[in-house]
Amino acid sequence: MQWSTIVAIVFAAIKSAWSGGSPFAVQTVLYPLNEENKYIIESEGVRLAFTLNGGALSNLWINDTHGIERDIVLGFDQADDVRGWVGNPWLNGVIGRVAGFLKDPDYEINSVRYTIATDRPDRTVYNGGETGWGRRVLDVASHSQNSITFVVFDRGWGGFPGKPAGCITHTVTPYEWQLSLGLVAVHSPTPVSLSQQVFWNLDGFSSTSTKTVLEHTLKLPYSGLRFAVDQDGVPTGDILSNPENSAFDFWSKHQRIGDALRDGSSRTRERYRQLDDTFLVMRPQPWKMEDGPAAILASEHSGIQVELFTNQESLHVHTWKAGPDSVDLKRGQGQGRVPDFGAVSMEMQNWPDSLHHPEWQRQHETILGTNRIYGSYSTFKFSID
Ligand SMILES: *[C@@H]1O[C@H](CO)[C@@H](O)[C@H](O)[C@H]1NC(C)=O
Repeated sequence: MQWSTIVAIVFAAIKSAWSGGSPFAVQTVLYPLNEENKYIIESEGVRLAFTLNGGALSNLWINDTHGIERDIVLGFDQADDVRGWVGNPWLNGVIGRVAGFLKDPDYEINSVRYTIATDRPDRTVYNGGETGWGRRVLDVASHSQNSITFVVFDRGWGGFPGKPAGCITHTVTPYEWQLSLGLVAVHSPTPVSLSQQVFWNLDGFSSTSTKTVLEHTLKLPYSGLRFAVDQDGVPTGDILSNPENSAFDFWSKHQRIGDALRDGSSRTRERYRQLDDTFLVMRPQPWKMEDGPAAILASEHSGIQVELFTNQESLHVHTWKAGPDSVDLKRGQGQGRVPDFGAVSMEMQNWPDSLHHPEWQRQHETILGTNRIYGSYSTFKFSID
């Protein structure tokens, strides 16, 4: 064992004991990192890299239809570069304790009133708040060639009740990536809706591609409905329909993202609006997640297709906007910045802000008691045309 490893273990043990932190801090430093400080898992056809920072997926390599290896997600070259990221979660990180917007920080469980910490002027809470899971350095409980498990000891981060323990396991099998997000409530019931952000560009920004996802196609077979939002993107509690052949029709056919987002009001040059909407996943009852994918994203250019199977009942789909969160392409993706519409994310989660909509009668999906275990399961299946 190298001297530097021993020093790292000692420091981790002290940190763990001192802060009453994770008993896995010692183990974390024992698992091998690559030269970019990332953890690699791989199986036939796919190789993924993760960082401790928000448990973010920072690379996903796959060979395209020409046999060229592409890195088809956004990320940073060095694992710790993501900490300068202003967004929540850290780019491609896990999202918890509650994904999406909560319209205000106050809520009641069993007639006990709780208030979540928020420093946003409008008092909303987004993706678990600024100190949520996606902006924490996680620990690794286990790592093998094709699997990694992060553990989360949530000590009431962001002002959520209780001190639940969470587990995030990523496993790869040939051309497949499975993700499970688990939580047990400790002491008191808690609102929960976990997710993982992944911004995809299935061309890996190859030099001959458009470097955007406007020519990717998207199908959301079970998403004839979406959630209405106010001007700030906060769900109002109303549900809208996505009529056939409308801009939101991703259910009846594979729709080119550029066609859906083209803004008809501009005559002079092509203009697009951003997609930033949460779609319902409404499967005929009873359903199993294996019955069919909730989303299919494909690019003709690279021939790569990803199908998302999930037990979650909504998907937040948003296109990349190069704003204050602007990032560079990774070394393997080329030069320059990720442009507007450079990527798209599909975040599986519970219905957004269901904490404030008891009329939806989704208490079971929204509040986790101490009498059971929360589980969010998803599988991404890859194929090459
Ligand atoms: C891509 O193909 C090459 C050559 O066959 C292989 O060595 C490599 O492992 C493949 N990449 C992935 C991610 O499977």
